[in-house]
Amino acid sequence: MKFLRVDARDDAVFNAWFAVLQRSERHHSDEDNMGWHPEEWRARSLDEAAPKVHYLYSYGPTPDAPVAVGALEVTRDDNLHWIRGDLFVDPTHRRRGYGTAVLGELESRARELARASLLINVIEGAHEIGTGPNRYFAKARGYRVAEENVRRDLAWPRPNGALDGHWDEWSPLALDYEIISWTKRTPDELVDARAHLSSIMPTETPHVDLDVESEQWDAARVRHHEETTDRMGRDLLVAAARHRTSGELVGYSELSVSREHPGTAYQWDTLVVRGHRGHRLGGLLKVMTMRLLESGGYATKKICTSNSVLNGPMIAVNEALGARVAGGMVAWRKDL
Ligand SMILES: CC(C)(COP(=O)(O)OP(=O)(O)OC[C@H]1O[C@@H](n2cnc3c(N)ncnc32)[C@H](O)[C@@H]1OP(=O)(O)O)[C@@H](O)C(=O)NCCC(=O)NCCS
Repeated sequence: MKFLRVDARDDAVFNAWFAVLQRSERHHSDEDNMGWHPEEWRARSLDEAAPKVHYLYSYGPTPDAPVAVGALEVTRDDNLHWIRGDLFVDPTHRRRGYGTAVLGELESRARELARASLLINVIEGAHEIGTGPNRYFAKARGYRVAEENVRRDLAWPRPNGALDGHWDEWSPLALDYEIISWTKRTPDELVDARAHLSSIMPTETPHVDLDVESEQWDAARVRHHEETTDRMGRDLLVAAARHRTSGELVGYSELSVSREHPGTAYQWDTLVVRGHRGHRLGGLLKVMTMRLLESGGYATKKICTSNSVLNGPMIAVNEALGARVAGGMVAWRKDL
């Protein structure tokens, strides 16, 4: 068996890599078109100059016939004391030691990159939250839970009048704020403020057991994020809250929807900075992004959102909007 880095320009090798990931994901869930699409993995693995590039790995007798696959999310400047990764064993090849072998290889690569901890992300289907094979496998290999997220889905479109109802209920609490919105490209005059919000985003959300530092974002990185998302075939639907008296941007929410596979839209970041919380801005921002989804005429059937189990306020907003539990996401951590 060989463990090799995959060149995503090699169609045979890349398609075989993706096929293992997809069979593994389908094994616990019969949902179609979920997660990153092949072209998104490809785009994110070829851009070596990006702030974050994905190294893809295959493990098998030959690179075009892997029995297991993995990935590492290599950041250039951010949070260099740890690294995130993924690991999938083809369902027909499990319990033969391949998962253990690939995990060992990922750990070696993480050490070579001088990272002190490796985090493995895992998605669990609605019926296996807390009981997936990862729970036995990771714990037995010295890993502990660093993040525990629950995914909630919101059926789309919403019933007639539902969005207006939330807006009317919440907006009286936010009279000091203006909710603005845009698609794809942040207006030039807001891009620096938008970069600042992205940089503090990681430190503003709760984590079970992970030391997170703020990220290095500037206007150029916001533009890079927007261009990469567009190259991935996704539209960004963004809302932001501006404090009327200071003019300060104090929150934003970002929904992403694939133009080719619009069935599932994904909630990306939502942030309201400390000091401006308690005004229902999180809910209003989300309603505004949904209005963009509505006016864009996307054939979306559901919006997926994931939150830390520790993030009570965001969960309350999602539940109030009508989102219901549909799966889990856990990040396992080992200090190398
Ligand atoms: C978790 C996963 C990577 C394990 O891969 P694998 O090739 O079966 O793992 P290995 O054969 O190396 O190790 C298996 C050991 O893990 C544990 N394990 C794995 N699956 C298990 C299950 N369903 N129930 C109980 N224990 C399990 C056992 O200790 C097992 O040893 P045993 O077979 O001697 O009892 C695989 O099930 C998978 O790809 N799952 C979906 C994606 C995922 O969860 N990835 C991240 C894992 S942290």
